[in-house]
Amino acid sequence: MKSFYITTAIDYVNGSPHLGHAYEKVLTDVIARFRRQMGDRVHFLTGVDEHGQKVQASARKRGIAPQQFVDEVSAEFRALLPRLNISNDDFIRTTEDRHKRVVRALLQQLFDQGEIYLAEYRGFYSTRQEQFLQEKDRLPDGSWPEIFGEVSEIVEPNYFFRLKKYQEWLVGFLTENENFIFPRYRQKQVLEFLKEPLNDLCISRPRERLEWGIPLPFDENYVTYVWFDALVNYYSAVVDRPGVWPATWHVIGKDILVPPHAIYWPIMLHAAGLPLPHGIIAHGWWLQSGAKMSKSTGHALNPLDLVAEFGADAFRYFLMREMNVGQDSDFTREQFLVRYNSELANNLGNLVNRTLNMTTRFAGGIVPAAETTEEFEKNLHALWEKTRGEIVPLSEGFQFHTALERVMFFLTETNAYIEKRAPWKLGKSADPHDQARLRTSLATMAEALRLAAAALRHVIPATVEKIDAALGYAPGTNWSDELAWGAKLTGAKVTAALVLFPRAAPAEKVAAKS
Ligand code: MSP
Repeated sequence: MKSFYITTAIDYVNGSPHLGHAYEKVLTDVIARFRRQMGDRVHFLTGVDEHGQKVQASARKRGIAPQQFVDEVSAEFRALLPRLNISNDDFIRTTEDRHKRVVRALLQQLFDQGEIYLAEYRGFYSTRQEQFLQEKDRLPDGSWPEIFGEVSEIVEPNYFFRLKKYQEWLVGFLTENENFIFPRYRQKQVLEFLKEPLNDLCISRPRERLEWGIPLPFDENYVTYVWFDALVNYYSAVVDRPGVWPATWHVIGKDILVPPHAIYWPIMLHAAGLPLPHGIIAHGWWLQSGAKMSKSTGHALNPLDLVAEFGADAFRYFLMREMNVGQDSDFTREQFLVRYNSELANNLGNLVNRTLNMTTRFAGGIVPAAETTEEFEKNLHALWEKTRGEIVPLSEGFQFHTALERVMFFLTETNAYIEKRAPWKLGKSADPHDQARLRTSLATMAEALRLAAAALRHVIPATVEKIDAALGYAPGTNWSDELAWGAKLTGAKVTAALVLFPRAAPAEKVAAKS
């Protein structure tokens, strides 16, 4: 069994979770569930990033200890996971001992190796991004981009990690491993960034300025700079689980690719003599009216409101259907409703209802065997073969939006098949051929529904479980076997009705994007 270890970024806990955080969990969950279906031994990690200036400041503002503050906010992030039906195997908090211990051991090792040294640091610091800035970060007019918030100049002795020394190695590594970063064009951007000389990385903060962090093991007057603490979570969470490291994929947003994940992390691992992950998936941003959704810009959409209104699966479906992994998408309620109504309520919901109603009405609730294969059936079988052949490679390449579009098309064609067969007319005919066609059409729609549901399982797991139960079907453990057109439902007893996605008030004048 292939080991597949996947992680999300760990969220800052200085505000409530928003749609961007939820999306990353859902995307990672869909990949994790897909890989489990493909037979991999999956380990799925997510968690929270609890140290740093912002947390310290937020706790002070509320007059409580930072630990109490992070306990409260982390609980909110953690509670999001079951609400979104996330199948993570572990949840890490950077304030846990298991993490702090590994960060300190790694720092000590790198210090002993001579990879860390003390020097005077002078620089411009962004508290919002927890990062020292460089001249090239300035806008053409000399000011700092808004994303950095307030920027102040600081001079102080600090510890540095020898990043520069590994620049050439990293360029060589990325050139040889051209699929290290998904999407591939982002890898080119990283190589472009590496054309400029790297500076060594300041990895400490004096304790008088920042208390809330992991003390350096070789100088307790300092705490660890946030990225050196946070990135290590991917490793510290599995250090005691043999055979899990290295990670297969780190799923992150594009804003934290360069420099933290594409530069610092590979170099940290390489310097420590640890194997590198297979790769990094950098997804795009959810925007609202063109602006990034984030706590600090005031553009934040509470994912739980949508989940409460439409259910976790409708929410998961929309996120996966709408966003091409790697690119940005604008979130609008109108577009959400269009997809919800036309694809989930109409396309899928109708097929479920028709299958259950007609099987109940014309066959006493027992799925009959297919008896004839005429042109209508042949066409639908052929379409399924094509769809099945496409969805696995598309999902392996994280093209979930296209895979879902193909499954939706198959559902549309299955509904069209029902129109053409018109079982309600066949039911009125006494002709034995028509009766055979009726039984065949019932078997065909049930099988098509079973297959489409199986193809949607990693995206809308709870819904598919309901569909399977309504069809009297217990899925096996071999997914590819399950995706084969067959007669698995012959003789199954279906339930009379199932409302999955009650129609929502229609969105006005918004066309569905294909
Ligand atoms: N704590 C760091 C990550 C450390 S990983 C070792 C951090 N936290 S964050 O809370 O700001 O962001 C967490 C994740 O959410 C990041 O991958 C980020 O890209 C993602 N998103 C935050 N806002 C987003 C959108 N509006 N849209 C999509 N994802 C975005 O960065």
